[in-house]
Amino acid sequence: MCASVANGHAYYELRRGHEVLVLPSELGLDLQGESTSVDRIERVVRGSTDVRWEQPWGEQRVVRDRHREMRVSFAGIAAYDVIFRLFDDGLGFRYDYRAVKPGQPVAVMDERTEFRFGGSWKAWWQEANGTENLEHLYSHGPLDGVGSAETPFTIERPGSYVSVHEAALVDFSKFTLEHVGPQAFRAHLYRWSDGVAVHRTGPFTTPWRTITVGATPGALADSRIELNLNEPNSLGDVSWVKPMKYVGVWWEMHLGKSTWSTGPQHGATTANVKRYMDFAAKYGFGGVLVEGWNRGWDGDWTSHGDEFSFTQPAADFDLAAVTAYGHSKGVELIGHHETAGMTENYGRQIDAAMALYRRYGVPAVKTGYVRKGHQYPRTLADGSIGNEWYGGQYMVNFHQQVVEAAARHGLAVDEHEPVPDTGLRRTWPNLLSREGQRGQEYNAWGTPTNPPAHVTILPFTRMLAGPFDYTPGIFDIEHGKTDVNRRVQSTLAQQLALYVLIYSPVQMAADLPENYEAHLDAFQFIRDVPVDWEETRTLPSVIGEYAVVARRERAGSGWFLGAATNENGRTLSVALDFLESGTRYEATMYLDADDADFRTNPTGYRIEHRAVTSGDVLSLKLAPGGGAAVRFTAVAQTPPRPSS
Ligand code: NOJ
Ligand code: CA
Repeated sequence: MCASVANGHAYYELRRGHEVLVLPSELGLDLQGESTSVDRIERVVRGSTDVRWEQPWGEQRVVRDRHREMRVSFAGIAAYDVIFRLFDDGLGFRYDYRAVKPGQPVAVMDERTEFRFGGSWKAWWQEANGTENLEHLYSHGPLDGVGSAETPFTIERPGSYVSVHEAALVDFSKFTLEHVGPQAFRAHLYRWSDGVAVHRTGPFTTPWRTITVGATPGALADSRIELNLNEPNSLGDVSWVKPMKYVGVWWEMHLGKSTWSTGPQHGATTANVKRYMDFAAKYGFGGVLVEGWNRGWDGDWTSHGDEFSFTQPAADFDLAAVTAYGHSKGVELIGHHETAGMTENYGRQIDAAMALYRRYGVPAVKTGYVRKGHQYPRTLADGSIGNEWYGGQYMVNFHQQVVEAAARHGLAVDEHEPVPDTGLRRTWPNLLSREGQRGQEYNAWGTPTNPPAHVTILPFTRMLAGPFDYTPGIFDIEHGKTDVNRRVQSTLAQQLALYVLIYSPVQMAADLPENYEAHLDAFQFIRDVPVDWEETRTLPSVIGEYAVVARRERAGSGWFLGAATNENGRTLSVALDFLESGTRYEATMYLDADDADFRTNPTGYRIEHRAVTSGDVLSLKLAPGGGAAVRFTAVAQTPPRPSS
């Protein structure tokens, strides 16, 4: 990469070998009342790093951070530094406005950063400024057909894959991309209701803008640039943060079999939660999520979220009894705070709410912010209400405040309707997972539900940001619906594959206990699959067509593989060269039945066992909308080859 100055503006460009990835593109921020004009590079300070660090939990235990750094000081009427970090698999850069006087208020009006891509690309994107909190399907098409896009924003052309995102989004607004010319985009920051993008005081740095680069889709998925660009763990010993699989009082409400509200169908009753705890204990799940346990759900809760209490349980839910029952069986209760986006109501109760959970030994809380993405209310100085963006600085800071409050009380957080992850889990490892895309819930009531291609796109788009609490594992695929567009559009085997494909340190077995008990042989895969990994390899995949991921368990030598295809059936040849050579494994394969099809026979599956080694190539026949889930258990060392 290189940096330059021309016509009063700062520029950067990025190449990979001889391939131009980003043509000279402008840099900088618009600060209110300040010129952006620079006329020279005053100083360049270079450095380099090559270290390995360990994640307390994650998709990969040891992460290598190898990069070269260049701090470029631009000067003129304006003065700011840009810190570039160049990795083997991409570039990160951030602005350092260190010349701002201490105590001086700064209003960032917008960002000037451009991404001018050379050549002709196709994009995978979701439009920015959406009102559904990132819960939109991805589009695919020529780059110049993109009007605006959220990040991660992935583009492809033969042999090259690039994704734009950010790292360490702290005390700033999220940026999106706006099309500004042929193959050219400009960063745009979500604005406060007062029209300013970011309010800061004194010298400040921005989050990192990242451009991840690879020759395959898997290279993007296996890049750890964003984690590397975040600050190390700030919480010290986080052995209290526990990755786990969980079940819960959840899908039954989304199906309309029970309600969040009180009344004869209330789901979160003491008796029902104990029933889930019995199931969790019997089959080895660590937690039971309970939604609808607290006061405020009656009526249309989305329109009166300021009535939610986070300390008062519903009359038929006994928090003390439920948690004591769980603990007697080795099962944790996972708490739930749905705010309906009423942050001031939640903010007033955060400490008491977290303290209550702490008192009853609840280790984690799922938060929710169901609301139109541009309508998060905030009381302004004159008493009127301002509407803030889900990705604006107000909400970025609010989520941060919740994570820090949870940490003070020894709780982990799983955010729904979040700001996308930017690697902050490295600094705050109690921030376990997030939603931030269309998850399984859409397969209950979406119009339409998620099409089969969705899960083949996610690993190379949404998942580049970080863990996703997708809530896989629906076995009753049709759940009483005759229209395929109104129910889960996958086979049962594909539901199993999602536990490996879609990484999250908290994974739900989302279906009802009775549906698992009807297929205990397939359920065994969900019982066996880990949620914490030693290493991850994304195998040859085609975005939107099929995706294949292999992961090695952290505590042991076993490997797990998940493969999924879109609406087209296909046979994949998967080389097992990720397995340790010299070891014989038993492969337990959960496969689509020969006549399986997400439309006509979604629950047809078969389980096969095979002895394999790293020299084998597995042929996996995937049904339309299908998948395969494989567990590899080391059984023996293979005898050494006779020396010749
Ligand atoms: C939206 C969340 O994504 C979902 O999981 C939850 O059940 C509902 N909000 C209710 O809080
Ligand atoms: Ca949601």
